[in-house]
Formats: sequence, structure tokens, C-alpha cells
Amino acid sequence: MSRTPGKITLAMTGASGMIYGMRLLACLAKQEVSVNLIVSDAAFEVIRLETDYQWPKDLKELHQHLVSTYDFPAERLTIYSKMDWTAPVASGSALVDAMVICPCSSGSVSAIAHGASNNLIERAADVMLKERRPLIIVHRETPLSLIHLQNLTKLAGMGVHIMPASPGFYHRPSNIDELVDFLVARILDQLNMEHQLVPRWGAQ
Ligand SMILES: Cc1cc2nc3c(=O)[nH]c(=O)nc-3n(C[C@H](O)[C@H](O)[C@H](O)COP(=O)(O)O)c2cc1C
Repeated sequence: MSRTPGKITLAMTGASGMIYGMRLLACLAKQEVSVNLIVSDAAFEVIRLETDYQWPKDLKELHQHLVSTYDFPAERLTIYSKMDWTAPVASGSALVDAMVICPCSSGSVSAIAHGASNNLIERAADVMLKERRPLIIVHRETPLSLIHLQNLTKLAGMGVHIMPASPGFYHRPSNIDELVDFLVARILDQLNMEHQLVPRWGAQ
């Protein structure tokens, strides 16, 4: 990616690691960027199960919740239902600079690798592939089956940035937030966005 993107699609699917997507959203709120957010049904459920939050399913309520929680400028955040085929991101004619799926389930990886386009997340990713625009997949699963590996390899072969949700430890994290920031920092790097989340190796 040669320049800082102005329009990002962020999709959250039902893999563990919602905290990564939430932190990424909080960071994007501070960037000069517009965000199209799509949340899968399973993601709403995993947020409820593994965090202290429960995101409202009503999209107007969710918008208000995220704007106040993350201090997100309201006009820069648009939320689409995962079945909203009229959303601009469903078409290559709408310009989106990059799409991040964080976290990304193995099911969504499979659907995207096979061009299923059965919901707006899969369709928006399919559009990024056909338009040869940056697509970043933050996959979470362990161990990986041959099916997962083959799907990820196929996507990597099409230029998708595969980022396993596996933070490093060499910055000596002392809590979960620092671990999360390690991964989110790498995602922001891929998006060519400036941040100070984690000191860079060799910079101290
Ligand atoms: C608490 C919880 C954690 C889950 N963690 C993962 C995971 O880490 N990776 C994964 O591929 N699926 C995980 N799943 C299963 C997915 O949510 C499920 O396959 C779902 O169909 C994914 O749909 P989506 O990709 O449309 O969100 C988890 C489900 C639950 C309830």
C-alpha cells in the first residue's frame, strides 16, 4: 500500500480475538479515515461470550454505542448489515482503499477462498480480490487443518495479507492490552498508518 488509506472496510467475524478488532476500531477512530463496519452474527455472539461487552444488534444503536465508546467521529463510521446487498462495498465501483477482517474465522476464510459471497463480508472481500485491492485477513485458529492451510495459501497467492492472530512477546508485554497492541500495531503498519502503539525493535 503506497499511501495512507482514506476509506477502510473493517469486518469482524466469529473467531476468538474480538479484542483485536475492538482495539483496531478504537485506533481507526483516531486516524483520518472513514470506516465501513460489518459484523457477522457469530461475531456478536463471540463478543458477548468472551468480552465484558454486548454490542447491540440494532445498527443505529450500535453506531451510537461505538461513537460514544471509541469517541469515533459519527460521520466517519458507517455500519452495514451483513445482508445489505445495496451497501457500496458490495460493488467494485465504490472505492475502498483496504479491507481488514479482524478477527477472521476459518469459515469466512473458506468462503472467501471459494468466492461464496453469501453475505456482505464475503462479497466485500470478493470485490477486493477482483479489484486487486488490499485485503488483510487476521485469522484465528489452532491447530490448522490442511483445509485451513490450503485456503490461506490460495488467498496468499492472490495477494491477501495473511496475519495470524499470534502476537509476539519480544516487547515483554506485561498485560493483555500490550499483547493486543502488538498485533494491532502490525495491522496498522500493513495499512500504512502511523501509530505509537508499541516501540519498534531497535528504536529504543
Ligand atoms: C466463543 C466462540 C469462539 C470461536 N472461536 C473461533 C475461532 O477462533 N476460529 C474460528 O474459525 N471459529 C471460531 N468459532 C466458530 C465460528 O464462530 C463459527 O464457525 C461461525 O460459523 C463463523 O461464522 P462467521 O465467519 O460468519 O462469523 C467460535 C465460536 C464461538 C462461539
